Amino acid sequence: MSKSPNLNRREFVTLVSTVVGSVMTAIVGIPAIGYILSPSLRTKKTDAWIPLGKLENYPVNQPTLFTFTRSITTGWEKTVNSYGVFVVRKSDTEIEVLSNVCTHLSCRVNWNEEKQEYICPCHDGRFNIDGKVDSGPPPRPLDQYEYKIENGDLFIHLKES
Ligand code: FES
Repeated sequence: MSKSPNLNRREFVTLVSTVVGSVMTAIVGIPAIGYILSPSLRTKKTDAWIPLGKLENYPVNQPTLFTFTRSITTGWEKTVNSYGVFVVRKSDTEIEVLSNVCTHLSCRVNWNEEKQEYICPCHDGRFNIDGKVDSGPPPRPLDQYEYKIENGDLFIHLKES
């Protein structure tokens, strides 16, 4: 006895339930999957101009420490980084902005007013006011930041990797 090509009532209800269930799953599931995966697909912001305030607030020939933090979200992970820079104002328009991270093993250097040097507390690395190595193990000068002055406000270009 051959089976009829027509659906009986039970098969029809099963078929309709399957189709409706699949559509409902897609309607709810696709946005949910997108929501879950979207942080991992987002590209992180890698650079920014950081405002350091009015240039006139920085005394001439006096390295002045400015600190700030930046938070970076990569996927589901949020990282807060702290930065320190020394602003060395040479004149009304000429300045240097130096990282306070030692180029040897990344300790934070301090400005010593008496010795007129940046001194690294870890291995006694020393840098002059322009960030060049005076003595010790650091292999290169302190890193410099690109800067711009707009309407008397100082900004540095931060490139994060
Ligand atoms: S980390 Fe600065 S001298 Fe070693």
